[in-house]
Amino acid sequence: MSAYHVMAAHFPIAIWMTTFLFIVLRSFSLPGRGDKLQYAISLLLFIGVLAGLATYSLGWMVWSWEALTYSPLARNHILMASWSLAYWTLLWVLHWRLGEHLWHGMQRWTMLMLSMVGISLLSVTGTLGGSLTGNPSGLPDILASLGWDTNSTFYLPPVMIGVTIASGGVILAMAWLGQRSKA
Ligand code: HEM
Repeated sequence: MSAYHVMAAHFPIAIWMTTFLFIVLRSFSLPGRGDKLQYAISLLLFIGVLAGLATYSLGWMVWSWEALTYSPLARNHILMASWSLAYWTLLWVLHWRLGEHLWHGMQRWTMLMLSMVGISLLSVTGTLGGSLTGNPSGLPDILASLGWDTNSTFYLPPVMIGVTIASGGVILAMAWLGQRSKA
């Protein structure tokens, strides 16, 4: 199954990279210009999620569950792949639900920022996949200089887990209050 996963991985990587480029162009385009780009972005986000889902599922079939979860490098690859898929799915849902409103005012910069996080997560996912197949890039060295050795288990201290859950709660509360004040 390794060959299928490696072959499939090219699709979400290429599609999400192109989507990122289009989002950058759309974010910086002058009012009235670049409107048509959002149709392409919408389609790319949708097929990107489908391709991501297929690659993600095939990933679980490459090695046995024991082997996948035994290696810290593989665990980090799975972690980053999960984040990438979740992020790009979020971008697709946002684009699907909010459409062109996303490109007005400050929202466009939010969209740009979210896609920058998405593309960074994807770069780390791909590079860790490369390390697994024995083709490492220079990115793990950069990550190591920033304090994350990708060959060791990624631990989130319990306090950070608490902060993450609390932040999620605050964001949900803000969304709920925002919705109520609009109604
Ligand atoms: C969107 C999700 C994913 C992407 C974009 C992705 C991408 C990649 C890439 C680019 C490679 C290296 C290909 C090469 O150097 O030739 C790779 C290898 C690998 N990936 Fe993923 N991956 C994803 C999800 C997963 C998941 C969820 C798992 C496991 C549960 C997984 C397990 C593996 C393994 C075991 C290898 C090494 C294969 C080998 O040694 O031949 N991947 N992946």
